[in-house]
Amino acid sequence: MYNLLKGKRGIIFGALNADSIAWKVAERAHEEGATFVLTNAPIAMRMGEINKLAEQTGSQVIPADATSMEDITNLVDQSMEILGGKIDFVLHSIGMSANVRRGNHYTKSNYDFTTIGWDVSALSFHKVMNVLYNKEAMSEWGSIIALSYMAAQRVFPDYNDMADNKAYLESIARSFGYFFGRDQNVRVNTISQSPTMTTAGSGVKGFDSFLNYADEMSPLGNASALACADYTISMFSDLTKMVTLQNLFHDGGFSNMGISTEAMKIFVDKK
Ligand SMILES: NC(=O)c1ccc[n+]([C@@H]2O[C@H](COP(=O)([O-])OP(=O)(O)OC[C@H]3O[C@@H](n4cnc5c(N)ncnc54)[C@H](O)[C@@H]3O)[C@@H](O)[C@H]2O)c1
Repeated sequence: MYNLLKGKRGIIFGALNADSIAWKVAERAHEEGATFVLTNAPIAMRMGEINKLAEQTGSQVIPADATSMEDITNLVDQSMEILGGKIDFVLHSIGMSANVRRGNHYTKSNYDFTTIGWDVSALSFHKVMNVLYNKEAMSEWGSIIALSYMAAQRVFPDYNDMADNKAYLESIARSFGYFFGRDQNVRVNTISQSPTMTTAGSGVKGFDSFLNYADEMSPLGNASALACADYTISMFSDLTKMVTLQNLFHDGGFSNMGISTEAMKIFVDKK
């Protein structure tokens, strides 16, 4: 370990269980010397797993629905009190599509569900930054990261309305990131991660094939949740101070591939 986050304070959204990307980020942040508050939706607390992570990392847990301005305000106030100062890093690791959950095809979206999923998966990022910005709760050169997926740029049919939510999320990172950078020297980025076997990931129809396809297409193979955590830690550290307004692909090279020799083999003699 490198003490990359020694003395830094953070808020980590979205650790549901040991598969969660946020869980790995919390473990790595702890190893790198950070102190932080863990948060998740009140309903996710019922499973109780987050308490194990809290114990393991010496953290406190504050429930917050990321769509509620009241909950986020309370979370930020309490976090600064518990951690003893302004916040150096924030991870937004939140995604949910009500249409995917109900099995609604993209062409037959239920728009009430679309709105719920958009609020949870995308607008919540704006709400979190709204509270942090207006309270001036971030330290200078602090770092805010949200997790995204490449369906924001390219078509992956079964990713459904989450594709639109991710496009909106990435746009918020740029738009809010401008004001955060200009006014408070805080950087805002999204990390676009490979398909990863987690609770949210496996909700996507045909996820196994999705995962295998990306693995075959990427020169380095799919990036694991732990590798994503490592990258996120580097983005929270002082080594990446001038990176902001970016959507950073963390995908083993997938995003720049056309076809791989492995994938080509599947199409040999197919006419
Ligand atoms: N798994 C993948 O293949 C993959 C790939 C790229 C990006 N991502 C993104 O990574 C992030 C984390 O997902 P994950 O794969 O670790 O799955 P996960 O299911 O472990 O995490 C999703 C989290 O969102 C939380 N959440 C849902 N509604 C909420 C609300 N109203 N308020 C607060 N929290 C809420 C859940 O409780 C859960 O902890 C998501 O943004 C996801 O879209 C995942």
